[in-house]
Amino acid sequence: MPHVKIEPGYNTQQVLNYGYHYWDQMFNDRQLLALSILATGIKNLPTCPERDVLMLLFSGVLEFNNMFASYKGEGTGAVRHMFSHHILKPERMPLEANVWGTDKSSGSFLNLFQSRILRAVKYKEAPFEVSLDKTAKTKSGKKVFGLSSAIGADISPAYPINGLSEKSVYLSCGNSARTDIPDNSVDVVITDPPFFDNVHYAELADFFYVWQQLYFDEKDAFTDSTTRHPDEVQDADVNAFAQKLAAVFVECYRVLRESGLMIFSYHHSRNEGWLSVADAVFSSNFSFVQAQPVKAEMSVATPKSQASSPIDLDVFLVCRKRENDGRSYLTRDKAFEAAYSIASAKIKRFNGLGRKLSQNDIKVVFYSQLLVELSPGRSKTQFCADFEHLVEKAKGEIDSLWQRQAENQPEQESLHYQLALF
Ligand SMILES: C[S@@+](CC[C@H](N)C(=O)[O-])C[C@H]1O[C@@H](n2cnc3c(N)ncnc32)[C@H](O)[C@@H]1O
Repeated sequence: MPHVKIEPGYNTQQVLNYGYHYWDQMFNDRQLLALSILATGIKNLPTCPERDVLMLLFSGVLEFNNMFASYKGEGTGAVRHMFSHHILKPERMPLEANVWGTDKSSGSFLNLFQSRILRAVKYKEAPFEVSLDKTAKTKSGKKVFGLSSAIGADISPAYPINGLSEKSVYLSCGNSARTDIPDNSVDVVITDPPFFDNVHYAELADFFYVWQQLYFDEKDAFTDSTTRHPDEVQDADVNAFAQKLAAVFVECYRVLRESGLMIFSYHHSRNEGWLSVADAVFSSNFSFVQAQPVKAEMSVATPKSQASSPIDLDVFLVCRKRENDGRSYLTRDKAFEAAYSIASAKIKRFNGLGRKLSQNDIKVVFYSQLLVELSPGRSKTQFCADFEHLVEKAKGEIDSLWQRQAENQPEQESLHYQLALF
C-alpha cells in the first residue's frame, strides 16, 4: 500500500488540517487489502493495451473505494466518489462500497468496467448525439445514431514529419506551453484550462499517482515523487496564474492557422478570476469574439458559494488572433449596452428552457459578454481599466436581471435547443 507522505499545498492542506498525513490513511484496512489484490492482479496480466486500460480503470476504483467517499442519496446505494467536489475533505458519514462488485453495487471494479470501459467501446463503435424528446411528458433524451462514423485512428507518438494524414491522431502528453506541433498547422484549439485559484489538480492527482507508482511503474514512467510541476497552470497569485495560462495561449497562437479559433471553457465568481483570463488572452495576442454559456459539469466547489449563489454554468470563450478580429472598437458605454442586451437575450433563452439562473450565473453570462464587446481595438491596459469600471456598473444590472427572470416564462416548444453550436 502507498504509505507516502501528503505534502502541504492548497488542496492538501484541507486534509492535513484534519490530521491525515499519509495517502493510505484515506482507506480502511479492508479497502487496502482488496485494492492491493486488485492492483497485483492487473500488474500480473500480460502486457497489452487491455491491461493499460485496466490500470487506468484502477484509478476510477480508487476514487469510489476510500473513506472519503459518501452517498448520493441516503438509502439509494449510489456511491458519491471522493472528488465529486474537487476538494479533499473527510466525510462525516463515509460509505464503504464493495470493491469487486455485485449486481447491485455502485463504484465497484465490475460497475466501472461496465459503465466506463464497455460503454466507451460501444460508443466508439457507434457514436451518437442526444436530442431532447419533445413528445415525452418529462424531459428525456433520445440517442440519435449515424451522425458520425465510428471513432478510430492511428495514434502517432510523435508529430509525423510529413504532417498528419486523414484519421490519424497525434497524442502529446506534457506541458501544453511547449509542444512540437508545427507553426500555423491547426484549425481549432479546444481546451478546458484550470480556473484561477480553484482546483490544484496535481495535488489531487497524487492520490492516484502513489498507487500507480507502486504497482505499475515498469517503464520507469513514474520516477518523479509527485505530479506537481512548476509549469502547471495554477497559482494563488493572480499575476502568476495569468502568466502560466498565457504561456499555453502563446503556444496555441503559434500553432493556429491565421483563421483558426481558440475555444476554452471558463467561469469565475471573482473579478480577478476574469481579469486574469483576459490578461492571458491579451498577452498572447488573441481577442474574445464570442461567449457561449452552457450548463457546467458540476456546481462550483466551495460549499459556501453553493449555499448562497452556486455557479452552474461554464462559458465557452471563443478567441481569434487579434489581427483577424474584424470588428470595430466600441466606446465603453456602447460596449456595456451591447453586452447588456446580448446577455439579457441569453438569460431569457435559459429561462425559456425552464432554467432559472443564480446571481453568479448571471454574472458569468454578463461578464463573458463584456469580454467580447470590449475586445476590439483596446490595449490590455485599456481593456482591464474599462472592464473593472464596467463590472462595478454592472452590479445593479445583474441584480435586476436576476430578479426579472420570473417574467421570462418557459417555452415548452423550444426545449430541444438546449445547446447551441457556434
Ligand atoms: C479543468 S481540468 C481539465 C479536465 C478535463 N476536461 C477532463 O474532463 O478531465 C484542467 C487540466 O489542465 C491540466 N494542466 C494544468 N497545467 C497544464 C499544462 N501546463 N499543460 C498541460 N496540462 C495542464 C491539469 O492537470 C488539469 O488536468
